[in-house]
Amino acid sequence: MEKINAVITGVGGYVPDYVLTNDEISKMVDTNDEWIMTRIGVKERHILNEEGLGTSYMARKAAKQLMQRTDSNPDDIDLVIVATSTADYHFPSTASILCDKLGLKNAFAFDLQAACSGFLYVLETGANFIRSGRYKKIIIVGADKMSSMVDYTERATCPIFGDGAAAFMMEPTTEDVGVIDAILRTDGKGLPFLHMKGGGSVCPPSYFTVDNHMHFIYQEGRTVFKYAVSNMSDACAAIAEKNHLTKESITWVIPHQANLRIIDAVANRLELPREKVMVNIEHYGNTSAATLPLCIWDFEDKLKKGDNLIFTAFGAGFTWGAVYVKWGYDGKKQ
Ligand code: UT7
Repeated sequence: MEKINAVITGVGGYVPDYVLTNDEISKMVDTNDEWIMTRIGVKERHILNEEGLGTSYMARKAAKQLMQRTDSNPDDIDLVIVATSTADYHFPSTASILCDKLGLKNAFAFDLQAACSGFLYVLETGANFIRSGRYKKIIIVGADKMSSMVDYTERATCPIFGDGAAAFMMEPTTEDVGVIDAILRTDGKGLPFLHMKGGGSVCPPSYFTVDNHMHFIYQEGRTVFKYAVSNMSDACAAIAEKNHLTKESITWVIPHQANLRIIDAVANRLELPREKVMVNIEHYGNTSAATLPLCIWDFEDKLKKGDNLIFTAFGAGFTWGAVYVKWGYDGKKQ
């Protein structure tokens, strides 16, 4: 029997209309455009600022565009996996809300939490469901409303993050394309450096947690930066070596968009020219689980069947890794 692999057959994306500029952030905290551009590389980020809308709203918009571009029938979708750290509710899952909004009748769905590495993890998880032979059409989503947990009085974190969502369709193939390999890691050692202190089962919400700003992102930036560079670089180098990929045969590296200096450091370690690195951090900031698919959403027209893509990310946990994808189609699907 021919071996089944999972190929990506389309992409959809969404960012909210409202654009928060560095000038505006400079009015909220003691910072300026020059510091943000040189230390982080973000010019603007999109923010979902309409009351009552959460992550599922953006995920739904991205998935609807995906279904239209791939000409998909809702009845044919078997599975939806949403990578997010900013679920609409503690429960039920954001993926379950998506099933209702997309009118899916034959799917099961769940959320996957791996912080900024979430989309790497859903790429491999979704691919394995396809490889099992039981599932034929899977939607994987990376979506985060980071503004819901950013402290806009904290200058070290508020310029970094933005909101957005993007989704891939995954289907079976017997061709030599698709999700070829993955190196995924979690060490749990990152907890002290990147987390949200309140609201979970260790420290449920209370007046105390609200008064003490415990429902926001807590990050020790320098430590996270150091581990992000070394772990993303090592994972990319390892997956390239394992699959006999060279600087020449890698078409694109798609790095998590957390900080332009991290992206540049990873590219330098891999000795890859900047033209082979997808970068759109300037316009979206760090949208956590959405950064990787949003890159593909923006660069889709440049991709060709057979291109060698390495996705890499690093996030809270710590979580990190690299996924090697051989792209499955030419150009942009309308
Ligand atoms: O996606 C999940 C993974 N997360 C990441 O990958 C983020 C990794 N970390 C980073 O991107 C960077 O560490 C940050 C962007 C968070 C911070 O940049 P940094 O170059 O590491 O700055 P720092 O925290 O070392 O602070 C340097 C200085 C400090 O002043 P002093 O103590 O040297 O006087 C800060 O108070 O910069 C100051 N500073 C700012 N100044 C102007 C911090 N934030 C700002 C700001 N504007 N917004």
